[in-house]
Amino acid sequence: MSQLFPKWANKIPLQLQIALAVKLIAIVFGVTYFFSPKFTDVGYAPEQVVPYSHRLHVGQLGIDCQYCHTTVKVSAKAAIPPTATCMNCHSQIKPDSPKLEKVRESWANDVPVEWTRVHMLPDYAMFNHSAHINVGVGCESCHGRVDRMEVVTQKQPLSMSWCIDCHRNPAPNLRPVSEVTTMGWTAPENPQAFGEKIIKAKNIHAPTYCNGCHY
Ligand code: HEC
Ligand code: HEC
Ligand code: HEC
Ligand code: HEC
Ligand code: HEC
Repeated sequence: MSQLFPKWANKIPLQLQIALAVKLIAIVFGVTYFFSPKFTDVGYAPEQVVPYSHRLHVGQLGIDCQYCHTTVKVSAKAAIPPTATCMNCHSQIKPDSPKLEKVRESWANDVPVEWTRVHMLPDYAMFNHSAHINVGVGCESCHGRVDRMEVVTQKQPLSMSWCIDCHRNPAPNLRPVSEVTTMGWTAPENPQAFGEKIIKAKNIHAPTYCNGCHY
């Protein structure tokens, strides 16, 4: 203990010292955690260990999102693809490219590529991809034009008010479920009117009450 606190602190009761230390740690942790770019910054675009490009694979090659993010329709998580998915092609295509070095290493050693997360909600907020995808909210509404991204960039604040704004009036963000992964989709008529028909047909009620999103 004597190393942890200055001499004068001996006069303060031990419990109080501990309480103080815990509070300080909590504040420092809280500030670095919640104000870190992951939680606050639109525009957060961490560099990845492999220079994987959505612009090339989606925009140019036309691979559907679900080829890699296989679970978006059935689970809360969208799933980052395993190395095997990349190797479907890259065992043949550019097998010697230095840009694919980490992918080959991962494959040979059977350890996942260490992708850095871009989007992240705090644990106390519930989010579920399938609940959105299966009523026709497109990836684009929340992630932007991923097909144009060399590096994935966070396009929306992921704040509570952002979620609730859409939940109050989801209509302009709804499309046929068959189009959820399409980039640049436009409604065949006024988007509000088109979405309202989907809301009626599917009896959509997005929660705006607190425990709709919090435990
Ligand atoms: C060929 C595989 C592949 C395809 C196709 C693909 N992605 Fe990805 N996606 C990845 C990989 C690998 C990562 C992790 C590396 C990164 O962030 O760039 C990723 C990351 C993401 C992220 C960021 C995840 C995070 O950490 O927050 C989003 C959002 C995303 N993809 C959306 C899409 C959308 C939308 C489509 C379709 C328009 C799509 N992806 C198509 C492979 C793919
Ligand atoms: C459906 C086939 C396919 C899949 C699946 C695929 N790629 Fe590719 N990838 C390509 C093609 C085609 C190119 C362009 C090759 C060229 O430029 O001639 C490419 C290029 C690349 C490059 C650039 C290589 C260079 O030297 O310029 C990287 C890096 C890359 N892919 C990473 C990945 C990763 C990581 C995954 C898995 C998440 C993946 N790819 C999945 C087909 C695929
Ligand atoms: C209603 C908004 C919304 C839609 C629609 C949406 N996402 Fe997400 N996405 C999010 C949020 C919010 C997160 C962060 C989730 C978390 O931290 O728990 C996320 C995270 C991700 C991730 C990181 C892995 C994960 O599941 O946390 C990937 C990959 C991803 N989304 C891909 C997609 C793809 C592909 C689509 C379309 C098929 C899509 N998303 C549609 C809001 C959305
Ligand atoms: C672009 C529009 C949009 C955005 C943004 C959005 N949602 Fe939703 N959300 C919807 C719609 C539409 C539904 C209605 C689904 C239904 O009625 O079946 C929904 C439903 C939900 C549900 C209920 C799921 C269930 O199982 O019934 C939860 C929880 C939820 N959203 C959480 C969130 C959170 C958290 C965010 C922000 C991080 C968010 N949503 C952002 C459109 C959106
Ligand atoms: C549609 C989903 C949704 C609903 C409904 C919702 N919240 Fe949240 N809430 C969130 C998300 C997502 C976050 C995380 C925001 C962030 O990380 O910036 C959050 C964060 C919070 C926080 C942390 C402080 C903050 O503002 O970031 C509190 C407190 C909170 N919500 C209380 C409530 C209360 C009280 C209600 C009911 C009046 C409510 N929430 C309704 C999604 C929701």
